[in-house]
Amino acid sequence: MTVRIPVTGAAPYEVVVGVGLADELPPLLAGAERVALVHPATLHEPATALAERLRDRVAVLLLKVPDGEAAKTLQVAGDCWDALGAAGFTRSDAVIGLGGGATTDLAGWVAAAWLRGVRVVQLPTTLLGMVDAAVGGKAGIDTAAGKNLVGAFHPPVGVLCDLAALETLPAADYTAGLAEVVKCGFIADPAILDLLEEHGTAADPAELVERAVRVKAGVVSRDLRESGEREFLNYGHTLAHAIEKVEDYRIRHGEAVSIGLVFAAGLGRAAGRLDGAAADRHRALLAALGLPVVYRAEAWPELSEAMRVDKKARGSVLRFVVLDGVGNPGILADPAPELLAAAWGDVAA
Ligand code: GLY
Repeated sequence: MTVRIPVTGAAPYEVVVGVGLADELPPLLAGAERVALVHPATLHEPATALAERLRDRVAVLLLKVPDGEAAKTLQVAGDCWDALGAAGFTRSDAVIGLGGGATTDLAGWVAAAWLRGVRVVQLPTTLLGMVDAAVGGKAGIDTAAGKNLVGAFHPPVGVLCDLAALETLPAADYTAGLAEVVKCGFIADPAILDLLEEHGTAADPAELVERAVRVKAGVVSRDLRESGEREFLNYGHTLAHAIEKVEDYRIRHGEAVSIGLVFAAGLGRAAGRLDGAAADRHRALLAALGLPVVYRAEAWPELSEAMRVDKKARGSVLRFVVLDGVGNPGILADPAPELLAAAWGDVAA
């Protein structure tokens, strides 16, 4: 069954979730003469097949980029813009992002900056891409100073989540994506937690994707630019981004988020805002799914420093999303060192 989830706001679009969504793409490209298909080397075959299907309607430029986070650099974005320039891309042309979260982040940024904004259609192929990166219009690249520090809010004109792609996704990548699904469960839809507690990694991906996308679509419809509620989507992410930086982005985002969620739950508990059972539920569920819930104890000084430059820090004040109960996120600004130490105690190995 195909499900259509609306994202409202100034630039409304739909996230379509189903199997075999080929017919959904052409209408999103109406009026384009040229399409740039940004994809990682690992997806060159499906990208070529998609290009063949589109070629009777539009000229297709295949833009092969490095796999994963290695695509999110100024150099790769610059190469894409050079290619758009050489092909004579105009404002009515379109970019397609086919791949995981890193590819769709890059494709979104390439589209956002080219001629100050051309349309982008996102075709996420990973669970993480479907439930998080491709939805909501955050586009960007990494720099030496940190992850996603350069970018834009550039909503796509459509997101097509073809669940068939998940059948060939490596198990570790699927599991990593579940961390973002769990996050959606804790901040807004506890039914997700029940499903995952009952069925584990065998829980129905269609239902998980639909539920997680509905959470994200609702939030970004109300707050595209993260001036309020959207910050709650960063639950677990302040520490996660620091871990990714310390790991030089060689850890899966979802794995870092998993550790970050346990930390954030510990912070909520230490601050007296989340009861012990709800905090423990984070670790129990994430560990049962096979996700990491601990990190090297000696890394704390490095992680604290990295968190201070995280883009969510306001000035030098650290801000964390914590829960005042499951489904009820809030902000904890500038927590006392003993609260941070208590939370670190929950993840330090
Ligand atoms: N991944 C968090 C957000 O899109 O706001």
